[in-house]
Order: sequence, then C-alpha cells, then structure tokens
Amino acid sequence: MKLTNLRVCNLSEPIGYAMDAPVFSWTTEDCDGSQLWAALSISAGGENVFDSGTVQNADSLGWRVELPLKARTRYDYTLTVRACGGEEASARSFFETGKRNEAWEAQWISPRVSQSAALLEKSFQAEFEEKSARLYICGLGVYEAYLNGEKIGDEYLAPGYHSYDFYLAAQTYDVTKMLKNGENNLVIALGEGWFKGRLGFEGGYTDLYGDRLYAIAELWQGDRLVLSTDESWTERRSPVMFNNIYDGEIWNAWESPTPVGLVEAACPKACGPLQDRLSLPVKEFDRLPAMELIRTPKGDTILDFGQNLTGWVEFKSRLPEGERITLTAGEILQDGEFYHDNYRTAKAEFIYISDGTPRDWIRPHFTFYGFRYMKVDCAFLVAAEDFTAVHLRSAMPQTARFETGNTLVNQLFQNALWGMKDNFLEVPTDCPQRDERLGWTGDAQAISETACQTLYMPAFYRKYLRDMRAEQSVLGGSVPNVVPRIKRDMIGNSGFCPWADAGVIIPWNTWRYYGNKSLLAETYPGMKAWVDFQRQREETIEGPHLVKDGFHFADWLALDNPEPGPFGATDPLYIASAYYFRCAQIVAEAAELFGLPEASEYVQLAADILTAIREKYFDENSLCVEKTQTAAALAVVFGLTEKPQAQGDALNELVEQNGSHLNTGFVGTPILCPALSMTGHHDTAVTVLLQEDFPSWLYSVKLGATTIWERWNSVLPDGRMNPEGMNSLNHYTYGSIAGWMLSWLCGVRPAEPGYRKIILEPRPDRRLGHARAELDTAAGHIVCAWRYEGDSLHYDFTVPFGASAELRLPGETPKELGAGSYAF
Ligand code: BGC
Repeated sequence: MKLTNLRVCNLSEPIGYAMDAPVFSWTTEDCDGSQLWAALSISAGGENVFDSGTVQNADSLGWRVELPLKARTRYDYTLTVRACGGEEASARSFFETGKRNEAWEAQWISPRVSQSAALLEKSFQAEFEEKSARLYICGLGVYEAYLNGEKIGDEYLAPGYHSYDFYLAAQTYDVTKMLKNGENNLVIALGEGWFKGRLGFEGGYTDLYGDRLYAIAELWQGDRLVLSTDESWTERRSPVMFNNIYDGEIWNAWESPTPVGLVEAACPKACGPLQDRLSLPVKEFDRLPAMELIRTPKGDTILDFGQNLTGWVEFKSRLPEGERITLTAGEILQDGEFYHDNYRTAKAEFIYISDGTPRDWIRPHFTFYGFRYMKVDCAFLVAAEDFTAVHLRSAMPQTARFETGNTLVNQLFQNALWGMKDNFLEVPTDCPQRDERLGWTGDAQAISETACQTLYMPAFYRKYLRDMRAEQSVLGGSVPNVVPRIKRDMIGNSGFCPWADAGVIIPWNTWRYYGNKSLLAETYPGMKAWVDFQRQREETIEGPHLVKDGFHFADWLALDNPEPGPFGATDPLYIASAYYFRCAQIVAEAAELFGLPEASEYVQLAADILTAIREKYFDENSLCVEKTQTAAALAVVFGLTEKPQAQGDALNELVEQNGSHLNTGFVGTPILCPALSMTGHHDTAVTVLLQEDFPSWLYSVKLGATTIWERWNSVLPDGRMNPEGMNSLNHYTYGSIAGWMLSWLCGVRPAEPGYRKIILEPRPDRRLGHARAELDTAAGHIVCAWRYEGDSLHYDFTVPFGASAELRLPGETPKELGAGSYAF
C-alpha cells in the first residue's frame, strides 16, 4: 500500500500560492480495501503545529484544515492512512506560503525610458548559506528573472494572464542554490505581455491594463531581507526590440544592453493589490524536432514539426554578426505553399539578429505561437536538426489514456487532447494562433467536462473562476464573454448564452470530477450571482421564468441554418432558457449540499423555469418543437422532456434523416452522442463518430488534422483552407467527443463527485474491435476495457482504493464491484 498524489489545494508541493487554509488530497494505491482512518501532522520550523489524530471519514478528495498560516513559511506534513484490512502507509510532503498579507518592503519600480521591453538590474552582496533563499516577485506585463546570469525557475510568461484590475499575482522562487558568496546580480527582464501589449481582434487595443512596465521583488535568506526593488536599481536597454503576444518578438543580440540610468519608483495604476499567485506555471512539455525542411515551389523554406502545437521554436545559431533569421508561424500548407491568412492581423513572427556569438539555443521570451509550420527567412542555409518546437502550457498533467482498434478514432482522441493542451495556457483560450487567444467563456464551458476527464484541471479552473468572480463583481453578477475581461466593444460584453453559463457549468464540472467541497464553496457565490442576475433580468419582462430577450451566441457554428453565418438554427431563446434552467438546478443542488436555506428558492425557480420551457417549447407528446439535433439533444441531456426515450427516438430520426451525420455547433456537439447513447441509440452515436466525410470528426483526421478545428469544414475537401475570416485549426470545442469516448464507449462515469462511486457501463461495438480507457481520477486509477476475440468478448476493470463501482454489462443485471482489478 502506498500514498500518492499528495496535494494541497490541488497543487503538488506548492510554493507561494494563495490559500485561506490548506486543503489536502491524496490517492491510495496497491491496496484493494477502503480507508479506516487517516491522520495528518503538520510542522513548521521543526515545531509541530497540527496533529489531527486518527480521523475516520477524513476525505481524501479535500480535507480542509483550519490552520492559521504564517507568511513565508514552509509547512512539512506527514499523512498516514490505515485501511480497513489493517494495512497502513505514510507519506511526507510540504507546502510553503508566500507573502500572504505581509506588507512589501520593496517598492514598485518602472523603467524611465523603455516602453516595450527593459532589463532592470541590481548587484548586491550576499553570502551563500544553507538557509533557504526565496525571491518574491512580480513583473508587468511579463517577466523573466535572472540571478547571476541564470534564469530563475522553469516557468515562462510569468506572472501570467489574470484579472489585473483586481489583483496582481506574485510568484515565489526557491533561489537557495543560485546565490553566491560575495557579489550577486539580479536582472528582471520585462516585456509587454497581455498587460500592455496588443490584445483583441480587428487591430485590438494596447495598454489595456497598464501603460508602462513595472517590477517589484524581495529576496530573503531565511528571515533576512537581502535585496528589494527601489530607486537604486538601474535600467538597461533590452536586446528585445519588439514584443507582444500576437505579433511575436524581435531579439537583437547585436545591440548591447547599455545602461540607461536609474529606474523610477512607480506603482501600477488602476490595478488590484499584490497577492500570492493562483495560476499554474507555464512550463515546457513536449519537445518536437523538425520532421522535415520543405522547399516550396515558390522557393520558401518551411519547417514542419508534424504537430499543431502551442509554444515556440528553439534553434541553434552560427549566424555571422548582423545577420538575421525570421520565423513565421503557420498551421497548414496550401498548394504546397506557406499559409498565414488565418492568423488575421497577428504577425506571429520571431526575428533574431545575430551578434556573431555561436549560440546553441535561441528562443523568444515574451510571446508564444500556435503553429505546425515555421517559414524560415534567412540568407544562410539552415538545417532541420537545428530547430526544435517546444510545447508550452499551464502545468496540468494528463490523466487519461484511451485506445481502440480504429487508428482514425485514436488519432481523433489525440487531436482532442492536443486541442486542450494547446489552449490551456494561463486561461482557457479559444485558439493559440490568431489575434484572439482570449479566455472565451463559451468555448471554456463547452470543453470543461472533457477537460476534467482528461487533464488534472482543478487548480487551473480555480484561478479562472476566481478571475471570473472578480469580473462579475462589477457586472452585477453577469459573466463576460472573455475572462479576464477586455473592456471594449463586443468582446467586453457579458450575459450571452451559453458563454456566461460558464459561471455555473465549469465549477459544477470541477466539483463532479474532483469532489473538492472547499473548492465548490469558493466558487459557489459566483454561480449563484449569475443565476440571480439572469433572474433579475428576465423578471423585468412580464411572463413566466424564461430567457425572453437578448443576444446569444447559442449553437455557434452549427451547420443547420440555411441562412449563411455563424449562428445555428435552434432558437437562441430556447437554448438560453434551457441553460437558465440547468444553472438554477445546479445552484439548488449546491445550496442543498451546503445545507443553505436558500436551496428551496432555487429548487422552486428551476421547477418554474422547467414548467415554462415545457409549455412554450414542447408539444403534447413532450417532444421539443424545435426540430434540430441540438434542441433534441438538450431536451434529453438537461432533462427538459418528460419522455426522454421518445425524445431520444426523435433525435435519432433527425440524425438518420441527415444521413447519420451531425450538424451541431458549440451547444449541440458536446451532448449529441451522449444523448443518443443515453436513449438506446448508441449504435447511431458510433455511426456518427465513424463518418469520414463532411461533416464529421474523422473528416478532419482524414485531411491530416493533428488538433481540432474551429469549423467542421475549416479545411475544404480539396485541402484548401476555408476562406472564412474566422478559421482556426486549433479550437478545442468539438474535441468534447473525447469525453463521450471515455464515458460512453468505455462507459466510465462518476456516480458521485470525484469518482468515489463509479459507473462502469462499457458499450462494446464490433466496428471498433476493442476499447480501453485508463483514468487517473481524484479517487485513483480506473481501468475500463473491452475487446472482441473471435466470438467472445473480454472485459477488464480496475476500481481504485476506497471506491466502488456499479458494473452494467450489456444484457446483465448490474452488480457492485469493490476496489480491485477484475477480468471477465
Ligand atoms: C472565437 C470563439 C468565440 C467566438 C464568440 C470567436 O472569434 O474564436 O471561439 O467563442 O468568437 O464570438
């Protein structure tokens, strides 16, 4: 027996993260029983500060300990778990606080001259000591810090993208081993980032959150403040001549970083206070060598990395002094030539100007790209082996593996995973390449369930939802189109369905998949605020509880509307009312869970909305009068119809009438196959999955996609890009099919939050030969697999420690499985 995945606030060994109280979670492996008790002891500075004793029902999904936390303190803890069978295991881990509410001795400083990038520098005396040394720091827009020439930490693009108007996130780094005896030198390299660089489409805006660069830092050795930012720091010119998220970076190594003079003390205006960080670090994950160097008919040189990904390219340079190399990002080749039009106004370039020094790695600092190809412009010959694509994303591990006997389906699953990984950089973005890369709430909402099934999401969502709640506080509870908010034009609007519904759907999915009640409690006020806002708004118009007006994106990009444009055919007010109902129902359930007296109010509201929806949108047979795939699927999955079976049959008919092809958009796509599988039409769902012609998932796979496209026909059958202005090859929403593969093809679903109770309902289908899902869930490792061998069918299951499963095999009465591994 062993304890694994020890985490605090869903973070492993966190240093300097915001937390009111530590919430512990873990998994138990190599034991088939359940927990009898757990015990936790916590120490700080060698002194015991907490001892739980043995606690029965200690919750491994989230055990909150009301421990008053001190600033800048490392807490070591030992967790012991005893299983009912008498086995016992212990494990140690730690967490460390940042500055919490402690006042900063350091001053905010700002370069006097440089506007776009600068180096702020200070030399100082220190002694190497075994005592831990920590740097507490924030740089705006984005920064990298260097101690004695070495980059501090392994994260990039800090402090990340958050709602700067409400708070500024400070990072904590362990620099113990980097300090030297005697003179040391700290450099903070600043760039524009999301804070002041260009953001938003159609040209976008600059200086959205601030109009200059800033930094603040304190270096502590044990209890001694060794260095802090103040007016004695100097400013140097940065070799980064130009940078922003969309257009890329120019790094002129030729220009020497000459000193400009002293910095100025200046505090970021109109921003919130400094606080400990919430966001996961952006780190390097995969490194992909260039697969091929292509010379196009027109004479361009293009590197192909074989995978559409988010990050940047590192390369080796032996260029002579003054020579330059330009890389430009692209997602696809068209007629064998480089194609960049779908980046719209985003230049997505990296220019390096050599100073003649041979360098083994060169990379950008203050930008990132979405790309599979890089066009190389250089007067000198380049070799493919000198270039490596580096995938960057927020550091959440992958938790699901899935495989079938169909290679196209397997590729689709991988594409869906890449689509999510590529779009989880600081915020859940719509796409990583063009002039957007924004935290669109609708896209985020639509993929959130699949994300929770495949990646370890809670800390990432905790930060996104904290930002969302902050933005809601100035919108009367409404949820904006993008979080953090861009306070301009249409992007800055709020309250559109089902974008705003992210405020309820994402926290609820996080609860369902991770079962951390403290996290749900933290996000509950935002959930409630959105439903209250909706209610107030709809009550200004007389009539039953329904969404009665307003603009809604609704079934965005569905194919069922004969009118050209991005809007689906399903009545947006039906969709908005359905989400209003679902959100009210979720808030009611959450309120009941916390034993809040307001629960009954939301139970009643949900019931009223449902009655009104049924009256307006359902006929006497309880079938939706909106005759679209999306409308019917919503009726089934949200429980709007009184006759789910009949509604499922009607949905099946609509799909068959469409040649067993889908025609759904952002609302319908994530729920189409689940609705079919739930109502006895799983065969049709598999048929829809296996279609290879437009519109289908495998259509994109057959055309060589390595990610999920924004549109069903982002690429036309002849391999040319759809010329529509809004067309990315890396949008994750339709990747939600990966969730259905796990929960319906393999049939693994949480029956209780955090998979403590599991449903295992495999749906073997000969067309796929076999399917195997392995999930590292909050409760532990789950396996569900089936395979045909000649005429016989074999199953494998694993149920984790402390969990139980209801096994539903086709044609058999359900049976209960305890922890353990099984083969049938
Ligand atoms: C984005 C979307 C987003 C939509 C809403 C697009 O430009 O890429 O995915 O949700 O706008 O209008």
